[in-house]
Amino acid sequence: MNYINEINRLKKDKNAVILAHCYQNVEIDEVADYIGDSLYLSQKAAETDADIIIFAGVYFMAQTAKILNPNKKVILPNLKAGCDMADMIDLQQLREFKKHNPNIPTVCYINSTAEVKSECDICCTSSNAIKIVESLNSPKVLFLPDQNLGRWVEKQLGNVEVITYNGFCPIHNNLDTAEMKETKANHPNAIVLAHPECREEFLELADYVGSTTGIINYVKNSSEKEFIIATEKGVIDRLQRDYSDKKFYNICDKPAICPSMKLIKLEDIYNSLVSETPEIEVDKEISQKALKCINRMLEVSK
Ligand code: 13P
Ligand code: SF4
Repeated sequence: MNYINEINRLKKDKNAVILAHCYQNVEIDEVADYIGDSLYLSQKAAETDADIIIFAGVYFMAQTAKILNPNKKVILPNLKAGCDMADMIDLQQLREFKKHNPNIPTVCYINSTAEVKSECDICCTSSNAIKIVESLNSPKVLFLPDQNLGRWVEKQLGNVEVITYNGFCPIHNNLDTAEMKETKANHPNAIVLAHPECREEFLELADYVGSTTGIINYVKNSSEKEFIIATEKGVIDRLQRDYSDKKFYNICDKPAICPSMKLIKLEDIYNSLVSETPEIEVDKEISQKALKCINRMLEVSK
């Protein structure tokens, strides 16, 4: 079967939209209506008038789309596609964290569960984290679950104490400083672009730190020809496809792969469109509270 043709036909028939994160298998782009980072996809989820949203991403992304669209069908084609970082903090752990640090505004990275979002003041993504923390006008903020992103934000702002939870993304956190130095030595003319989920000492070796879209836009606007890309493989795959006149290097030739992001295949999207499953459901009360946290972020990001 030609999955691409069938998916495109079903999408039209059923008034469905497909949102795809840049870490997805690159062939998903053939059927996606919108491809981007977490912020862009949540903005598109908030705007859509489709009846069905198919999320080619991980669980928290589809859950966020459902919270924004409680009356639409939101489908994650493979329910096993979770996020290890989002699973590092649950409601109980959040309450403990807040108890130890009382009366401080709480910022949660969008890579978190709906329950966690429901008890935080505002959400952020990697592309707006600085702006979101700044918008709180507070000398101290609690930041979770990603300690690396939180520390990076603190360093960029300079005038806010960012108290971080101890979560991290195993994929970005594992990127190794010695290996980065070796890669830089092998490609002395390459510009280093890194995601803020990487460790602090690793980020010090980067020329630019930014979200998935930030990294892609940097390449788009740069006249440079060689780049070392410190983030998930999907970003390099798309850069290689779209900028064939430029060269992109992994750290020590080892691509960083998020296994969850690679679970969804074209066949799963086709099956999801046919069966309209598996649907994401969120408890109504949790959803209403989490929506405030997400909407506050969207408002500040306008
Ligand atoms: P962004 O999409 O905000 O760059 O985040 C990357 C990520 O880890 C998504 O899970
Ligand atoms: Fe989660 Fe890291 Fe995978 Fe993003 S790359 S979905 S943060 S585990």
